[in-house]
Amino acid sequence: MSSTGTAKADNRVYEASADFPSIDKRTFKQISDLVYEKCGICLNQKKEALVQARISKRMRALGIKDFKSYFAFVESDETGGELTAMLDAISTNVTHFFRESRHFDLLGEFLQRWEQAGQSRFRIWSSASSSGEEPYTIAITAREALQNASDCKILATDISTRIVKKAQQGIYSERNVDKVPRPLLARYFRRLPSLPGAEKHFEVDPLLKHMVKFGHINLSKPPFPLRGPLDVIFCRNVMIYFDNKVRRELLADMYRLLKPGGYLMVGHAESLSGMLSDFKSIEPSVYIKT
Ligand SMILES: C[S@@+](CC[C@H](N)C(=O)[O-])C[C@H]1O[C@@H](n2cnc3c(N)ncnc32)[C@H](O)[C@@H]1O
Repeated sequence: MSSTGTAKADNRVYEASADFPSIDKRTFKQISDLVYEKCGICLNQKKEALVQARISKRMRALGIKDFKSYFAFVESDETGGELTAMLDAISTNVTHFFRESRHFDLLGEFLQRWEQAGQSRFRIWSSASSSGEEPYTIAITAREALQNASDCKILATDISTRIVKKAQQGIYSERNVDKVPRPLLARYFRRLPSLPGAEKHFEVDPLLKHMVKFGHINLSKPPFPLRGPLDVIFCRNVMIYFDNKVRRELLADMYRLLKPGGYLMVGHAESLSGMLSDFKSIEPSVYIKT
């Protein structure tokens, strides 16, 4: 691929930077092996331009001129800081509030059913929480569905330190909140003061922040350091980056962590068919532990 080549991934076109010589095959293989080993993400040849474009931003910031030297720098950094920065640069964090909204309609129904049956403690895991839109949407859904949400807790984890920090802040631009229905925006967000003409920003209500606990969990390294039983696990739009081995192992551990009758939500583009998993499908992208 030339240094000005393009590749399509995640519906976007990545332009490789013209400032750097293109990544050589050996360095690309070394980077993709390291990324697979550390976080289970499979970078095949089609991802070459994406990797090149994203890593070149890091190289520019560090003043490094070629990919081979950058990889040597990642390997020599004993703090692991540059490895984290590289994984941050490579991972795709696209998300939005109420994404795949059917899952939240169902979540509301499940919570109401369980509460009516006498349950008062609810535990939900957003396992690839990105910048926080998914766990905060879960929190909003729970507050809207439950009579008493005082013991409803959401664990929100991601591999990316940068994105977890952003999620913890809970501050979103007007564009980020455009999928939040207006009455819910008024109820669960506070508009931050802004200068005239500047883009509006909103902060999620402390009530929601208190329901969500953020952390880091690497989904490619089960068993996960969690105590079950969990009521619902959201594992959406992350398994697409893994191979079947990583998928199978993480699904087995999620199965262990769920209560019998608990649910797993996966992305609509993902399916567990062929995963030899014990989950039973109740509708596309929604599974139950029987
Ligand atoms: C496309 S976002 C999906 C966000 C959200 N679940 C949704 O559906 O809108 C994928 C997220 O998975 C995270 N991720 C990638 N590899 C991971 C891993 N091995 N363990 C945990 N999170 C990972 C990325 O950092 C990113 O934030």
